[in-house]
Amino acid sequence: MSDRRPLIAGNWKMFKTPAEAADTAKSLVGLVRDATHTDIMIAPPFTALVSVAETLAGSPVDLGAQNLYWEKEGAFTGEISAAMLRAACCTYVIIGHSERRQYFGESDETVNRRVRCAVENNLKPVLCIGETEAEREAGKTLSVLDKQLKNGLQDLFSDDLGNLVVAYEPVWAIGTGKTATTEQAQEAHKFIRSKLEEITGSALSEIVRILYGGSVKPANISELMDMPDIDGALVGGASLEAESFSKIVLFQ
Ligand code: 13P
Repeated sequence: MSDRRPLIAGNWKMFKTPAEAADTAKSLVGLVRDATHTDIMIAPPFTALVSVAETLAGSPVDLGAQNLYWEKEGAFTGEISAAMLRAACCTYVIIGHSERRQYFGESDETVNRRVRCAVENNLKPVLCIGETEAEREAGKTLSVLDKQLKNGLQDLFSDDLGNLVVAYEPVWAIGTGKTATTEQAQEAHKFIRSKLEEITGSALSEIVRILYGGSVKPANISELMDMPDIDGALVGGASLEAESFSKIVLFQ
């Protein structure tokens, strides 16, 4: 582990009503009350942001959203703006998750517009990148990461990126029970940091946190966190229950 402050983040995807989400958040707050070694974030569905924000008030757990749209307001049915997320007390926003790329036509270009919008509105972007199984088997992992990172950060400069978080999520490890080996994850994270250095300069690349995502559980968090370029985790399934997520948060 590095000097960077870890971030353990939960992506609740399309799970939980506002009441269920508030319940889980309440249990989580009780379980992680004394966690001072890491930043913690949960990203419930949009409809649960307000109920969860009320539950998290005064706790060490931050609130995140799972997406945003880059326009300020207007006739964009089904979309949600940065100002709306800010008003709902979000400090983070997940952008470019592979499920959005796979099922909802998200492209590097739209990902970039969302990242720029998050930065302009003082939301911390969690930019997700990662290769599919076919891309890994074809030996294209690093070139895919390079392209997604560069395109996702186009027209952004080091001054904009102090709050950037990158999440490396190999698509083949999401929800499958297959975790990248710690060596595979470290190799990808180290590569991402070297590319960040090319894009932003060395000082910033040493600050940006790079999270690993894909079947993270209480049983594998410690070995992942032992890697020098892994600064935290973006957790799906195992973040849905306060008990298992708190064990990941309290990984030490
Ligand atoms: P799982 O932890 O369920 O594999 O999901 C990872 C993920 O997609 C987090 O964004």
